[in-house]
Formats: sequence, C-alpha cells, structure tokens
Amino acid sequence: MSAHGSDAPRGVGAGTPNIARMYDYWLGGKDNFAADRESAEEIVRISDGRVLRGVRLNRSFLGRAVRTAAAAGVRQFLDLGSGLPTRENVHQVAGPDARVIYVDSDPVVASHARAILVRSDNVEFVEGDLRHPREILGHPAVRRLIDFDEPVALMFVSVLHFVDDSEDPRGILAAYRDAVAPGSHLILSHLSKDAFPQKMAAAERVYEGANTRLGARTREEILGLFEGFEVLDPGLVGPAEWRPQGPWSTERFAGLVGVGLKR
Ligand SMILES: C[S@@+](CC[C@H](N)C(=O)[O-])C[C@H]1O[C@@H](n2cnc3c(N)ncnc32)[C@H](O)[C@@H]1O
Repeated sequence: MSAHGSDAPRGVGAGTPNIARMYDYWLGGKDNFAADRESAEEIVRISDGRVLRGVRLNRSFLGRAVRTAAAAGVRQFLDLGSGLPTRENVHQVAGPDARVIYVDSDPVVASHARAILVRSDNVEFVEGDLRHPREILGHPAVRRLIDFDEPVALMFVSVLHFVDDSEDPRGILAAYRDAVAPGSHLILSHLSKDAFPQKMAAAERVYEGANTRLGARTREEILGLFEGFEVLDPGLVGPAEWRPQGPWSTERFAGLVGVGLKR
C-alpha cells in the first residue's frame, strides 16, 4: 500500500524522489538515491540550510516527548509515519519494557524497519496507511501489543503535512483519539507556512515531483489538530523551544511541535 493508496507504490523506485529517503538524507543516512538527494538538496538551498538543523531538532523533540510521556506512565507507543530507522528510535528511548508499534506506508521503510527495529516481542512494524485508522487499530500486531484500556502515546511526528485537508486529518486524529484511554498523549510536529511562506511554497513545489505531496498548515490549523487533547506546556512552539535541556537555539524554524494529553 503506498501513501497514495495505489497498487503500484510510487517512489519505491530510485527515479522518484521519496519523502522517507529525502528525510534520511537530511539526517545523514545512507538509504537514499540520486533523485532523493537532488530534491533534498533543492530544499536545503530553498531553506538556506535550515532544513538540516530542523530535522535534527525534530528528532530531538521526538526523544524528549517520548521521555515526557514515559515519565507520565505511558508504556505504549504508536509511531505513525515512523520513517527509516535512525538513531534514538522510539523503543530505544522508551526502554525495553515499552511496547512500540511503528507504522509506515512506504515498503522501503517497511523492509529496513523489520530488519533493524523489530528485535524483541515488545516491538512491531506495521506496513499501513495512517489515513485508515480502523485498519491500523484493528491490525493483529496492534491488538496483540496495545492494551486500549491503558494510555497510549499517539505519535504523528512530521507526517500530517503529507495528509491533505480533503483527506480529513482532524477526522483521522479523532478516530485514534477516541480509541485510546484517558492519560494518552498526542506527540505532534508539523510544518507551518507562517514563518517562511514563500520558501514553504517553493518547497511544496519540489514535493510535487516526489512520491507524496507536502501541504504546510497555519499555526491555527495545527492547533486544531489537538482537538480533544489539552496542549501541555509550553504549548505549540518551535522544536528547539519544547522543554529544552540546556541552552537552546533561538533560530526560527518552519516546524511547530507540541504534546497533548487526553483527560
Ligand atoms: C518526514 S518522515 C518522518 C519520520 C519520523 N516520524 C520523524 O519525524 O523522524 C515521514 C514518514 O511518514 C511516512 N508517511 C507519509 N504518509 C503516510 C501515511 N499516509 N501513512 C503512513 N506513513 C506515511 C513516510 O513514508 C515517511 O517515512
């Protein structure tokens, strides 16, 4: 199943820039081809290099948010749009007793993730499309590992900007939210078009040639994705500003991040 839901997945071949492999390139990974690197470099140019610092801050936010949820007693993590394995993957941060499901629609991510991430009975990878919550939530691996009477961390890190408004991202989130117990967390990061509207529009044009389109949202629209969750301090902020450990960069980024709590 591709992010477009067709039978022949787009972007699996080396010729089409692929969003998972572009992200891997920015993070310094090796799982990318020339077409991925070319588009990724174009975004580096458009963003004056900011994307390279932004993706690292995004990963570091992910780590701090997972630790925050774990410290609040969450032991189950559903990482939707998990991407190619990198450093500090969720199960490594959350600890060996945490139960972690990685979900991604990209077959290349699937084969790497199965080989590298799934090393214990507490970790599973599901190849699936997060836009179909009933299929994901009903998947046998999810039913085996996740106890829906206990809190779950729902992770949508740098992925919902690949879900178009016409696909009802709020409705998708509501389906996941309604399935999880009070005490569950929403860990979200999302590209905003507010800080650099022209650069973001240029970046969106680059993604028109990739396997999945990009659609940044306004801050208000991103806040709307937290419906049914209380947004925890410090609110929806840049990735460096979310509960920094030590001095943090004051550079502005296009991404906004936040963590919500279901009461
Ligand atoms: C930019 S990467 C983010 C990876 C990771 N969450 C992070 O922030 O480090 C986005 C990932 O989402 C996946 N993705 C995009 N649309 C998806 C969908 N509808 N269902 C599942 N995965 C999706 C892509 O294949 C890609 O691996």
